[in-house]
Amino acid sequence: MNEIISTKNSTFSFAGKRTWITGHRGMLGSALVRSLSKEGANLLLASRQELDLSNQSAVHDWVDQNRPELIFHVGAKVGGIHANATYPADFLYGNLMIQTNVIDAAHHYGVKKLVFVASNCIYPAIAAQPISEDSIMTGPLENNIRSYAISKIAGIELCRAYRKQYGCNFISVIPPNLYGPGDNYHLQHSHVVAGILRRAHEAKQAGKREFVVWGDGTPRREILYVDDVAEAMKCLMAAPMTHDMFNVGCGYDFSIAELANLIAEVVGFEGSVVYDTSKPNGTMGKLLDNSRIQAIGWRPKVDEKTGLQNAYKDFLSLLETPNRSSRL
Ligand SMILES: NC(=O)c1ccc[n+]([C@@H]2O[C@H](COP(=O)([O-])OP(=O)(O)OC[C@H]3O[C@@H](n4cnc5c(N)ncnc54)[C@H](OP(=O)(O)O)[C@@H]3O)[C@@H](O)[C@H]2O)c1
Repeated sequence: MNEIISTKNSTFSFAGKRTWITGHRGMLGSALVRSLSKEGANLLLASRQELDLSNQSAVHDWVDQNRPELIFHVGAKVGGIHANATYPADFLYGNLMIQTNVIDAAHHYGVKKLVFVASNCIYPAIAAQPISEDSIMTGPLENNIRSYAISKIAGIELCRAYRKQYGCNFISVIPPNLYGPGDNYHLQHSHVVAGILRRAHEAKQAGKREFVVWGDGTPRREILYVDDVAEAMKCLMAAPMTHDMFNVGCGYDFSIAELANLIAEVVGFEGSVVYDTSKPNGTMGKLLDNSRIQAIGWRPKVDEKTGLQNAYKDFLSLLETPNRSSRL
């Protein structure tokens, strides 16, 4: 059960604020960079080469030297169902290390507010839809992504524990599947939208009459354009702390079959989608109850058609880059 916290209202501006975005080169991190740059935030950024977030002493030293006031903790080991099922130890160990180092350093050096990004996989595999924040830890997790999910639950709990023991203003956001510019289209590491988009594109290019999607097409997925999540995180960073975790979703979902057809339309693939039922469906439904964040005033702005068109443009521009990107 998550706690309700009350604080008084305040006005807020990012201008000049020393703001650290971890994982700023990734899909969500770069959306935050785009948006916060426009607000005049004093962005503190370090690539993985400059700062390995899984190195505790390096993270403490970096925070000591750079003294962020605000942290958007986005950096994590991220991957789709295949990567999660294949490398569970890397997902659990890597994310526990990264988030523990960042959250503890944030407390140690007096960071004013931290927003931690979790994921909708924290909720039980079978949960009443739409899934409210209170559903956390009420049932067994989806088996293929259990390690990643447990790391994210631990991150939420760590934020809560530092708030309870030390009064830290640390909160968590729970987004659904993200998509948009900066996504990873790797065949084995991609999430649902990027994976289908690539397969649809390759089938079109090869003149094939069909492409294959995992599972039977019936599970339902909520997707959210990455810039909308960045805006939600900014909104929560600025808002007085009413709760310590917030679902960030659009409030509706698609079956995988509907999503595949929508993506095929955006890509211009005119053949049919076939379903490989030997592959797992994953969780049947994951629609988030977004009433808590809606009460703060956030609403998504990008419709799926526009968002998917932008994602496809991003994918096409990646194909044109001279050096093959690790996102392909
Ligand atoms: N994508 C989704 O559908 C989705 C859904 C729900 C929640 N989330 C959460 O949203 C956040 C952002 O996801 P994303 O899709 O933007 O992921 P992403 O594109 O893979 O970005 C992750 C970033 O973290 C950095 N990173 C990973 N390990 C690091 C380390 N040891 N030291 C320094 N940097 C490290 C990566 O650096 P490199 O660039 O060097 O690899 C990358 O910039 C994550 O916390 C993820 O769990 C994502």
